[in-house]
Amino acid sequence: MMKKYQIEAGQGFDGLQLSELSSSSLAADEVRVHVRAVSLNFRDLLVAWGKYPGIRSGAFVPCSDGAGEVVEVGSAVREFSVGDRVMASFFPNWFSGPPSRAKIEGALGAERDGMLAQEVVLPGKSWVRVPHHLSYEEAATIPCVGTTAWNALFGGLRTTEPKQVLLLGTGGVSVMGLQLAQAAGWKTFITSSSDDKLKKARSHGAHKTINYAKYPDWEEQVKESAGEGVDLVLEVGGAKTLPKSMASTRMGGEIVIIGGVTGFAREGISPGRLLFDAMCVRGVFVGSRDMLQEVCAFIEEKQIHPVVHKTFAFEEAPDAYRYVQSGQHFGKVVIKVSG
Ligand SMILES: NC(=O)c1ccc[n+]([C@@H]2O[C@H](COP(=O)([O-])OP(=O)(O)OC[C@H]3O[C@@H](n4cnc5c(N)ncnc54)[C@H](OP(=O)(O)O)[C@@H]3O)[C@@H](O)[C@H]2O)c1
Repeated sequence: MMKKYQIEAGQGFDGLQLSELSSSSLAADEVRVHVRAVSLNFRDLLVAWGKYPGIRSGAFVPCSDGAGEVVEVGSAVREFSVGDRVMASFFPNWFSGPPSRAKIEGALGAERDGMLAQEVVLPGKSWVRVPHHLSYEEAATIPCVGTTAWNALFGGLRTTEPKQVLLLGTGGVSVMGLQLAQAAGWKTFITSSSDDKLKKARSHGAHKTINYAKYPDWEEQVKESAGEGVDLVLEVGGAKTLPKSMASTRMGGEIVIIGGVTGFAREGISPGRLLFDAMCVRGVFVGSRDMLQEVCAFIEEKQIHPVVHKTFAFEEAPDAYRYVQSGQHFGKVVIKVSG
């Protein structure tokens, strides 16, 4: 018998309950997948704590990111066959173009059932092929952070290519951003609270690494080695890091607002500062299925292997959540759902 996890928003990790999953019949446009691996995001912690917007009421299957094997295909589906290796798109209804309220409805693992189950059924249009060179564990890391980092690095309206990119901390988004930016040939700057993690970042090609716990004024070091400042920041820090990210950025540069691991600022940012530095601030909310396909194609072309820091067994899912909360990871934490 297949199994699934369920949780109710606000219950915390102890609220994760393993139960039996009964298969429903397949609609003509749907694809049934046996999930092999799921990766955790900071967002999954926020969902468990009830601190994420738009979470549905009652018990639901958590987690947005998973990869597995197609086991059944609806009669109207042409793109996939039994045996194909696929991953689900974070927003199953945002296929292409800019976002809209309608397109971002039904986000996996919050507004509707997600991926932490041994079997998942979604419309064929919501699945994307796994790059050939990747394992299921590696592929499961891509949907949220891969699409987000791709959107942040390559999805802006800027007219010149960024040459110097700043990444904050060594969690999922930042390490994926590091790998993609390195593969694009750009110079990367990255911060962390851990020298060991910074050493790992250097092994992935990071040009400049700074320990933000040892050097609270880390933006000065960025400016020292980036000339007039970096061209682009993937801002995952929020309230405490945003002013420092702005100080690290050159005139005419771009700050992509992605997250708030230090919380979200209550005060606004200075309009004068944005104007006189001709700076661009852009919010990114993951991305479309087209962006997921683009990042998968790039990952395959450049033969990138996303960093899986640690893998947990399906029965250990609550421990995997606790491990992400502990902040020990460099890159991604994965749950192996089935062999
Ligand atoms: N907008 C979107 O579409 C989108 C998509 C994905 C994620 N997010 C958001 O982006 C953020 C990161 O997500 P994630 O999944 O990558 O998280 P994660 O894997 O849990 O990584 C969090 C990392 O943040 C770093 N950190 C903590 N305090 C910091 C500080 N003061 N300065 C710099 N870095 C700090 C730590 O790095 P060290 O251990 O190296 O110090 C930690 O490992 C979250 O807020 C998440 O909700 C948003």
